[in-house]
Amino acid sequence: MPLSQAATRAKHVALFVTGGIAAYKACEVLRGLQKQGVDVRVCMSGAATRLVAPRTFEALSGHRVTLDLFEDETSPIPHIELAEWADLALVCPATANVMAKMAHGLADDVVSTTLLACPAPKLVAPAMNVHMWENLATQANVETLRQQGVLFAGPVVGRLACGEVGTGKLAEVEQIVAAAMFRLRAAGDLTGKHIVVTAGPTHEAIDPVRYLSNASSGKMGYAIAEAAAAHGAHVTLVSGPVSLPVPTGVGIVRVTTAAEMLSATTDAFELADAAILAAAVSDYRPAAEADHKLKKATEPLGEVKLVENDDILATLSKNRGARIVIGFAAETGNVIQRAREKLAKKGCDLIVANDVSRADSSFGSDTDTCALVSPHGVEQLDTMPKSEVAEVIIRKLATMLGASEPAAAPGGAAALGETVLMPGLTGDDALDETTLMPKVGKE
Ligand code: CTP
Repeated sequence: MPLSQAATRAKHVALFVTGGIAAYKACEVLRGLQKQGVDVRVCMSGAATRLVAPRTFEALSGHRVTLDLFEDETSPIPHIELAEWADLALVCPATANVMAKMAHGLADDVVSTTLLACPAPKLVAPAMNVHMWENLATQANVETLRQQGVLFAGPVVGRLACGEVGTGKLAEVEQIVAAAMFRLRAAGDLTGKHIVVTAGPTHEAIDPVRYLSNASSGKMGYAIAEAAAAHGAHVTLVSGPVSLPVPTGVGIVRVTTAAEMLSATTDAFELADAAILAAAVSDYRPAAEADHKLKKATEPLGEVKLVENDDILATLSKNRGARIVIGFAAETGNVIQRAREKLAKKGCDLIVANDVSRADSSFGSDTDTCALVSPHGVEQLDTMPKSEVAEVIIRKLATMLGASEPAAAPGGAAALGETVLMPGLTGDDALDETTLMPKVGKE
């Protein structure tokens, strides 16, 4: 198809309906998507056809429903044709069974085979009995799918078809349609790019109940991952222990220690275009972890022997080739000078320098006052919400990656264009090293 045609045509959603009582809700989802100008085609599992007649979806969608791998006279290989047609694969309702198949790459019926063959982003709206949802096997499959970048809408808490109350109810139709539209629109200047982000603290065990860590909340890294996904990037978020919700459209790898973070980040970086390392990695770990709780009376912790952890930022920077690596500097004084030293020592492309002694820029705060320090100079940012700092960093990254179009992130992000302030401030003496604010007008 010519490019101009592809740009103007309606978006395509392949709607996969599997065998849950909530299958009738898929009719409303289909209608909701059509109201947004989306062209929807439906593929049903055998179980789903026992709950809603394919003819209903046929009439609503205006397309023949894909029901069988072989018996479809409209196309010699219907599952490949539908898989390639889709801009988004929406599984609604998704049973525990179809999620298990997706997580493990099974292809034993028309739905799982088409999903496996489909290169488009995937959105899953689960609906099932609470115990099926909470089953460790289902939760492991959900985690695997999230790591693959699959987006989830729901399930939510409510009264279930089986009569129980708990998590397992299909998300509201409007939520599912909104999530689908988000995923369809999330094409921007980072589409096709894979970005690795680290976030949060690490825990370094002393014994089974004690560990060394720091006060990192993870908010900055999570905001960066969210902004990168909104710009269309495929995002892998390597997160230390925090209790933040995983941003929409972001694949998550959860780690605990610095060693695990190093391993997960270097693995993900192999296929990536850039890494942004916002985690507050523990610099040290106990030389040995006791296998039992140390007792005060007989094994006092007066002195814990520590060994230094590997530096993830320096490791990635050394092997980055043409890829971009961005780091952070959490400082409590001489911020710009120390950020410059870190830039040189670790060999990355950019350091986001942060004075964490300021109340409006501390680990747990919702705002930050940063400067972007690169070999080309220093850009001072105003104090702003972490979400806006994240947007500035992602735009900067897009420029560094040579993105051709200006950012068009959803959610009114265009209003943030003015946040990179004072482009003329590139000299040492333009900024107050302690406060990170311009010296202009100061005595
Ligand atoms: N960093 C890392 N691996 C480590 C330590 C730090 O990848 N073992 C990264 C952080 O994610 C951040 C940058 O290095 O992007 C700077 O972290 P920071 O804590 O400011 O500095 P340190 O290197 O730990 O140095 P110091 O504690 O002496 O300031």
